[in-house]
Parts: sequence; structure tokens; C-alpha cells
Amino acid sequence: MGRVAVVTGGTRGIGAAISIALKEAGYKVAANYGGNDEAANQFKAETGISVFKFDVSDFQSCASGIEAIETELGPVEVLVNNAGITRDGTIHRMSPEDWQKVIDTNLGSCFNMCRNVIEGMRERSFGRIVNIGSINGQAGQYGQVNYAAAKSGIHGFTKALAQEGAAKGITVNAIAPGYIDTDMVRAVPANVLEKIVAKVPVGRLGRADEIARGVLFLVADEGGFITGSTLSINGGQHMY
Ligand code: CAA
Repeated sequence: MGRVAVVTGGTRGIGAAISIALKEAGYKVAANYGGNDEAANQFKAETGISVFKFDVSDFQSCASGIEAIETELGPVEVLVNNAGITRDGTIHRMSPEDWQKVIDTNLGSCFNMCRNVIEGMRERSFGRIVNIGSINGQAGQYGQVNYAAAKSGIHGFTKALAQEGAAKGITVNAIAPGYIDTDMVRAVPANVLEKIVAKVPVGRLGRADEIARGVLFLVADEGGFITGSTLSINGGQHMY
């Protein structure tokens, strides 16, 4: 019987690839999404994966969302914190709202989701948590103080929670993707993106399924000794 896996932001981009890869590997997948009903319905129709709409930046919404998932599929054993947004801009033009929204959605969501599954994982002495960080949380990025701070926070969060979970069979790891061919990256102005890709040794954007492979590796039952690590998947753009 497949383990139950939740993927936040799991109906589009990197998250969709992760949801699909987990399903193909035999997991029972719940794909969370925040607002795009059309994309979520299409994703559900195409993949047969259950979708759950709730706001990961809000603690209570996560509590209700996890409850709904557990009622339908069973106890959550695998959590992939993937949901993320950008509100790029240099700090001298960034509004407090664009700062806070990115921190709450990209980093606060990790607390909101983990807090609501961790007690069950501890009771069952098994859990796999993967947090999706970013090359820009490792290296920084012009125009992204909000995003880089949130993603950098994810890497610290991962290492702290890994220590707490270790004795209870719960592993906590991060993946730091580079520039992956998704809507988020396509929103970067073409002339800017061109310069970024020119600095990627592999010479191209990554594909979402190349991140999903890393998730499958980290959540496997056999991965019990891998915890607190960060897997960089970035075409050699930043070696850290
Ligand atoms: N380093 C130094 N200077 C830079 C720079 C950089 N990386 N990028 C731009 N500048 C300079 C420009 O040369 C320009 O200088 P001049 O005025 O002297 O010519 C100045 O900054 C203004 O640049 P823009 O015209 O780009 O300014 P803007 O206000 O129109 O836009 C921006 C600023 C929104 C930050 C835009 O540059 C941008 O979108 N950058 C890309 C940010 C980015 O990489 N986001 C990643 C999104 S995808 C993602 O986040 C996924 C992931 O995890 C990897």
C-alpha cells in the first residue's frame, strides 16, 4: 500500500512534476494549490491526482487542509513543501506587502505544514519531509531580497527540523533548484533570463522532472540516513 504524500503548490510547475513522479512511484498523492482552479482542475483530470485548495501561508487553513487530506487518503507520511511565489523588485521599490507575502508563502508555509503533520509522524515513527529551497537562497539574487531571504530561511529550517526528527525516523532535507523551465522563470524579463542562462555550465534551463527525481530519491524508505542535507540541482550554476 502506497504511502500518503502531500505536495504543496502541487498542480503546476515543479510541484506538478513532483506529484506525478510520486504517483507513478506508487504513492497516494494529495496536490495542494492556492488559487488557480482552472489549472488544478485540468491537472486533476489529466492525472487522476486529488487536489486540495488551501492557503499555505495561513496556519489554520493548513490545519483544515491536512485534516481533509487525512480523511480522504490517510495519515500523511511524506510532505513536500514546494509552494512558492515571487514578487521581484529592488528593495528601494519593494513594498512591505511584497516582502511579507513572499516570506509568509515561501517560508511560513513550511512551519504551517510541518507543524500540522509532525505529531502524527512522531507517533508513527516515520516521516519524510522535503523542502524546496532555491539557488537564490544559497547565492542571493539581484531583485529578490524577499525571495532569497525566505529560501535561505528554508535551508536553516531544514537543518533544525532534521535534528528534531532524527530520533523519530523523520528525515528532513532540502532541494535547491536552479533556473527551471516553469511559469515562474518565464516571468523573468527575457533579456535578464538570457544573461542568467549564459552562466549555467550545462547551458540550458532545468526541467521540472529533473527536480522530481531528487524528491523521489530523498523520500524513499531506504533514505533513512539522509537527513539535513541540501541537494543542489542547478546545472552547475552554483556549487555549494
Ligand atoms: N547585478 C547587478 N546589476 C543588475 C543586475 C544584477 N544581477 N540585474 C540588473 N542590474 C542593474 C541593471 O543593469 C540596471 O542598471 P542600469 O540602470 O545602470 O542599466 C538596473 O539594475 C536596473 O535593472 P532592470 O532594468 O532589470 O530594473 P527593473 O527595475 O526593471 O527590474 C528586476 C529589476 C525586477 C529585479 C529585474 O532585473 C528582474 O526581474 N531580475 C530577475 C530576478 C530573478 O532572477 N528572479 C528569479 C525569478 S525565478 C526564481 O526565483 C526561481 C528560482 O528559485 C531560481
